[in-house]
Amino acid sequence: MRIIILELKDIAEIRADFPLLSKKVYNKPLVYFDNGATTQKPQCVLDAIQEVFTSYNGNIHRGIHAMSDMTSEAYENARERVRSFINAARKEEVIFTSGTTGSINSVAFSFGERYVGPGDEIIISNLEHHANIVPWQMMCQRKGASLRIIPVNDDGEILIDEFVKLLSPRTRLVSVTQASNALGTIVPVGEIIRIAHSAGIPVLVDGAQGVQHDVVDVSELDCDFYAFSGHKIYGPTGIGILYGKQKWLEELPPYQGGGDMVEKVTFEKTTYNELPFKFEAGTMNFAGAIGLARALDYVLETGRKDIAAREKMLLDYATGKLAEIRPLKIYGNSKNKISTISFLIDGIHQYDTGTILDKQGIAVRTGTHCAQPVMDRFGIDGTVRISMCFYNTLEEIDTLCTGIEKVIRMFS
Ligand code: ALA
Repeated sequence: MRIIILELKDIAEIRADFPLLSKKVYNKPLVYFDNGATTQKPQCVLDAIQEVFTSYNGNIHRGIHAMSDMTSEAYENARERVRSFINAARKEEVIFTSGTTGSINSVAFSFGERYVGPGDEIIISNLEHHANIVPWQMMCQRKGASLRIIPVNDDGEILIDEFVKLLSPRTRLVSVTQASNALGTIVPVGEIIRIAHSAGIPVLVDGAQGVQHDVVDVSELDCDFYAFSGHKIYGPTGIGILYGKQKWLEELPPYQGGGDMVEKVTFEKTTYNELPFKFEAGTMNFAGAIGLARALDYVLETGRKDIAAREKMLLDYATGKLAEIRPLKIYGNSKNKISTISFLIDGIHQYDTGTILDKQGIAVRTGTHCAQPVMDRFGIDGTVRISMCFYNTLEEIDTLCTGIEKVIRMFS
């Protein structure tokens, strides 16, 4: 098979951008197939973070001194680059958070406080990560509301007709993943948003497994909220994004109180700062924000369409090769998938498979992938998951297949 790299820089050159990819594990070259959990970081991101602390570190929005000014400027510049990356209409609609989990918890709390009451309903899907289940459950318990669940078919695809049936006058919000971290299913969020909006219902999209795989344009999608994490898109940990349409963010109460999110504080009453600061209490992870913006620049320099094309090629190749391995079953056969494949080998527990692969230098994830309800849907207690990204290679997929054959031989 010919490797089509399109306009991507040469793959060896790309891999050289990521110091950790040349690491050896158990004296074997690392094959890193756990990008859904966290991605490796290019040197330029590491440099950008180091530069914060060696060149201008000062607390943001607080001082009149040069260091504070420089850091504030770099932080706000990072916000603008995130805005541009997701094509939000306004910088004020981009809130820095600790990650996708922080973003969803923030909306679940604030939206719940403002708009949800006893008997109301929130719709999520059977594919969701715990981060897009538990915050809604907690809010529903507090407010006397309930969750409604969009089912999936045997291929792990959302059943749109069933979604339509779930919509009711009590539906307050729909919150769905853009892509399943466990099965790889790409969810037709555009269609879900159109249907929900025609009933006047806002939609949150969990982009934790979406934003790094293709172009995301929140204005075109017309989603009301969009959440993603820095560390899954080649940026640092502890930083993420909550995009929200201005009209919602203006109306929602803040999730946390503290410094910088206020306008005037007296013991009797506090008025809040303007957007986006209303939702950014305390000292924010400014080094993380600056590192994230550099990671997004790196993705743009590499080419988002080219990344998507290369990952599709890796997905097709890996799916074909794994399908040739007889006692192996793939879970999640949606027509549209990110480059994530979940599987089980007949008669071999996923932890055994993962452990033996690890000893060969191959990093995969095993277990329920923080998505227990979708495992229950398929009557399994977990899978082995490979989650690839553009820096992975066909040779690494071949190494994986050789590793799996070894696992099968050991257990036969
Ligand atoms: N949500 C991350 C994953 O899917 C941790 O692995």
